[in-house]
Amino acid sequence: MSRIWSKLDTAWPVQTGGNIGLMELKDGMAGFMERHGVAPIVFSHFGIVVDSIESHVKWLADYLESVSGLQTEKVKVEAYNVYVARIDLDGLELELIEPYGGSFFKAHHEEFGNSVHHLSFQVTDAADCLMKFSTGGVELIDRTPRHGAHGKVAFMKPFPPDSLYLEICQPK
Ligand SMILES: [Fe+2]
Repeated sequence: MSRIWSKLDTAWPVQTGGNIGLMELKDGMAGFMERHGVAPIVFSHFGIVVDSIESHVKWLADYLESVSGLQTEKVKVEAYNVYVARIDLDGLELELIEPYGGSFFKAHHEEFGNSVHHLSFQVTDAADCLMKFSTGGVELIDRTPRHGAHGKVAFMKPFPPDSLYLEICQPK
């Protein structure tokens, strides 16, 4: 793992009830999907809910020291009342999410502050995945995929009562 990601491992609280790093979390989530018969194409990103994208980008640049001039584009996603910005760090993506209205993103931020909200994996057929998770008794946030910033997306809560979410994304 790169030095950047080792450092990010302790940057935000992860609401799993245990002490677990980001990469370990990624492997655990991939295992969860496999157990439900869902084969992701690839891991997409870690979703971090924050109070301000601009101040968090500035904080990240300072925290990571060697990374300078982080370029981000802030995109409004009306389906979830949030702004999002993606940052590529050594080939893995970080998604910063700033809620502007009511949603489970905002509720998560109110409870835990700036923290890991979800892990996202690309899939070929989001609707089919939702059906498999639903059949397996997984708690779904979206019963049908919504239009996100990068394609069709849907969220679920794989490990209740832990408030960490799984996002599946079917690219455009
Ligand atoms: Fe996401």
